[in-house]
Amino acid sequence: MAVTAIAKLDAERLRADFPYLEELQNGVPVAFLDSAASSQKPRQVLDAMTDFYSHSYANVHRGVYRLAERATDAYEGARVKVAEFVNAPSEREVIFTRQATEALNLVAYAWGLDNLGPGDLVVVSELEHHSNFVPWQYIAGRTGAEFRTIPIDEAGELQLEVLAGIAAEGQVKVVATGLVSNTLGTVNPVEKLTAWAHEQGAIMVVDAAQAAPHRPIDVQALGCDFLAISAHKMCGPSGVGALWGRRELLEQMSPFNLGGHMIRTVTAVETTWGQLPYKFEAGTGPIAEAVGFGAAIDYLSSIGLDAIERHEHELTEYALTRLAELDWIETYGPPVARRAGIVSFNVDGIHPHDVCQILDWEGVAIRGGHHCTQPLMHRLGVIATNRASFYLYTVPEEIDRLVAGLEKVKKSLG
Ligand code: ALA
Repeated sequence: MAVTAIAKLDAERLRADFPYLEELQNGVPVAFLDSAASSQKPRQVLDAMTDFYSHSYANVHRGVYRLAERATDAYEGARVKVAEFVNAPSEREVIFTRQATEALNLVAYAWGLDNLGPGDLVVVSELEHHSNFVPWQYIAGRTGAEFRTIPIDEAGELQLEVLAGIAAEGQVKVVATGLVSNTLGTVNPVEKLTAWAHEQGAIMVVDAAQAAPHRPIDVQALGCDFLAISAHKMCGPSGVGALWGRRELLEQMSPFNLGGHMIRTVTAVETTWGQLPYKFEAGTGPIAEAVGFGAAIDYLSSIGLDAIERHEHELTEYALTRLAELDWIETYGPPVARRAGIVSFNVDGIHPHDVCQILDWEGVAIRGGHHCTQPLMHRLGVIATNRASFYLYTVPEEIDRLVAGLEKVKKSLG
């Protein structure tokens, strides 16, 4: 059998695409290790947006003049790119949203309010980002459904053995989990969870915001029913994300936002809804942002998601090895084989905000806090962690600078 080698990514060369990485702070570039919060943007994306605003900008789906047609083509072209990126059967199943959070709220409200009730169970994981936790908790409360969480083990991996017990408690209607944890980097077994959800007659909702920038996404292989992504974590602009949903479910759902653009006819007696995907896109959308999203997808695809994943895997292995040399650091999360490019840790006796402040003086940017995962912090028994996260432009020397910075933290505050 032919084995296809995964191309090795040249992070040093790619860094030249990112204007921020050329800037100096106290004479050196910042080691930017916070891409899980939001990634830096390459010139290719910035140029595509400037060019679009300069030469092709008008509102979409409204004007019949040439400029409006050019804008509409660019906007709809971006939708096709998103559809191809997640291997959606049709671009009509791709809805532009403000970010993954809005995409997940859309499903929770538009599907949940009409399909959940007393005796039903909504199941999320203890690892969830608040964006895939709070909407479901809220909609379960509004509809009288019960809310359950799948616990994690000591390594930060889902304990699937509890599923049978959960199923015995009621009718599971929704299973909602992330593909990759934004705090621990855990890669969740979404295919297995989808199979279980479908056995229960439930829908499977996947938050892929932290996965899509770093690994290939295929909604047909995952088998899920809804999947949410955000452009800002994947080299694209903030303010735009996408929801992919299975067509038959989207067709049955009521709209989420109401107003212009999402209607077929409006009279004083009745309003009827437009076709997919416009039924879910009320008002003027994130037009230039969608174009930037498309450019980001082109950029990532030109590098190759497999190559990005492999690069981050090597960096994570290196970071875990270097951090293991410091016996006053506790790291959290699964073995590197089942983890994306994220390392959460704590320094003995030093609050993450103090750690991050000193690291900033050393020109190292990481995030400290609860990372919008308070239930996970509770489970870990901490109020916050430090989190270093890597991307296609991260180089091992930046991890060395993190380790040197942590040694300074320990010396000053330990
Ligand atoms: N969800 C982003 C993070 O993980 C903001 O930091």
